[in-house]
Amino acid sequence: MKNNGEFMYFFNEKAYKILKNYLLNKVEDIKNTFILVDDVTYKYCIPILFSRINFLKESNIIKIKSGEKEKNIHTCIHICKYLDKFKATRKSLIINLGGGVITDIGGFVASIFKRGICFINIPTTLLGMVDASIGYKTGVNLDYIKNEIGSFYIPEFLIIDINFLKTLPKKEILSGMAEMLKHGLIADINFWNKMNKIKNVTEIDINQWNNLIHQSIFIKQKIVDQDPKEKGLRKILNFGHTIGHALESYFMDKKKILHGIAVIMGIICESWISYKINGLSMDDYKEIKSTLFALYPMQKKIYNFSDLEVNKILMIMDHDKKNEKNKIQFSLLKKIGKCSYNCVVPYFLIKESFFEIKHFFLIH
Ligand SMILES: NC(=O)c1ccc[n+]([C@@H]2O[C@H](COP(=O)([O-])OP(=O)(O)OC[C@H]3O[C@@H](n4cnc5c(N)ncnc54)[C@H](O)[C@@H]3O)[C@@H](O)[C@H]2O)c1
Ligand SMILES: [Zn+2]
Repeated sequence: MKNNGEFMYFFNEKAYKILKNYLLNKVEDIKNTFILVDDVTYKYCIPILFSRINFLKESNIIKIKSGEKEKNIHTCIHICKYLDKFKATRKSLIINLGGGVITDIGGFVASIFKRGICFINIPTTLLGMVDASIGYKTGVNLDYIKNEIGSFYIPEFLIIDINFLKTLPKKEILSGMAEMLKHGLIADINFWNKMNKIKNVTEIDINQWNNLIHQSIFIKQKIVDQDPKEKGLRKILNFGHTIGHALESYFMDKKKILHGIAVIMGIICESWISYKINGLSMDDYKEIKSTLFALYPMQKKIYNFSDLEVNKILMIMDHDKKNEKNKIQFSLLKKIGKCSYNCVVPYFLIKESFFEIKHFFLIH
């Protein structure tokens, strides 16, 4: 199904036709197909999938607990043991039905089990659709270090079904939208201008979602195609993530914070740093900040990082694998729609940028 290395993704009705054909023609025994879910997608998403392709009921379901905490090597070992127990072979197929946690874990297991078996992603969160299941990165966390163990591995194809979004909580929709906003900021001002007109996510209709998701995937895929292994250009997708990931790691055991919300905080800090040292205009910075503050409303309680906390977050950043020559590397905006990478930022500026989010609303 992989087309000369070109990545394939399909939407709604067409997607299920293609999946059905694939299962009927490429899979020897449906009992040798494994659907990876978490307990939430088992409840909400399996019924939708089975209503579309009835004979998938004969496949094996591997259910894990939901949540980022499960994204570790122990869960992968548990899944590999399950695959062995149920006699998975090199011809077995894994279908990942879930958010980014499931597609990251399932993709990674597919890449290592018997030195690699086929897999298909069916993302069920917005973040999964526009980001986590695009771009061939799979992996798990090592203690508090995000995505420290992983691989690049290409799925057979990707299925987008907007219906899955109906049960997704609003905070998860907002989390996914963070990546869409980022795609506009780093590479496509027209897309940013569309996204920044959204005032209320609950007012977006199915057609609009299809359209916006399609465009967002297109932007990311185009960047990935030019630099699949992240030697250069692809690093722009990390905009907002150097600080975002550190915040996410820092909060992992404390107050849980969603990936996209951490990224929004990272985008605000890193836009400010972009203004300071990378030529982003004050007007662009203000537009970014006001758009994000409007979409991600502020809380009365001011979130105020202490110096000690900021130092701890900086230490986490030091571990970030994007660091080269012992310097923390950032991707920074030049203007809305244009981003540079490999930018070295002095520590004091990173610290200062934290003042930018001290009024930021933590959704939980
Ligand atoms: N591989 C990549 O390139 C890449 C890129 C971005 C993010 N990621 C990773 O993705 C993960 C975050 O993904 P996520 O935000 O999808 O998290 P997630 O997979 O934890 O899903 C969020 C929550 O929504 C629930 N859920 C999923 N689908 C649902 C549905 N249709 N209805 C109701 N609830 C549903 C899940 O059970 C979970 O509780 C992080 O681990 C991040 O590192 C990976
Ligand atoms: Zn992200």
